[in-house]
Amino acid sequence: MLRLIEHEALERDFGEPCEIVSEIDQNIVQIAHEMAHLMYNSDGIGLAAPQVGVNKRIIVVDCTEERNNTVYLINPEIQWQSPRNIQSKEGCLSYPGLVLPVSRPERIKVIALDLNGKKIEFEAGGIYARCIYHEIDHLNGVSFTRRVSRQVRRHLMRKWKQKRDA
Ligand code: NI
Repeated sequence: MLRLIEHEALERDFGEPCEIVSEIDQNIVQIAHEMAHLMYNSDGIGLAAPQVGVNKRIIVVDCTEERNNTVYLINPEIQWQSPRNIQSKEGCLSYPGLVLPVSRPERIKVIALDLNGKKIEFEAGGIYARCIYHEIDHLNGVSFTRRVSRQVRRHLMRKWKQKRDA
């Protein structure tokens, strides 16, 4: 069963992009399903493979209120992003309780493979766009803590660690 790795372990690979999935075999499908399971169990809206120690370009997302629309994206890429950015509060399952104000494009166009290896392309906005962007960042070795200024990061992470260690 897959587990979330500690954020310290995740940070060791900062800047290291994950490998492209060359073949969607049974193993990849199983990893993706277990990731979804973990995401729902953890009450998250998205999860990227490196968060569970798997160095592959796999993400799962579900931003619906009903929690009934699992989106599996293999080798996802952002094809286009709107020039307009929006700042909003963001969390991450690898940093439980940490909330950061992150600025991201309002809309994105995504291209990826689904679990059957079929090419899919779609446009996303709002929280859905934000979530996919956040997860693709993970695949590129970028955590949301790197999407805020150094000053904000130091201040809010110090508070977060104090609360966590209290
Ligand atoms: Ni995250």
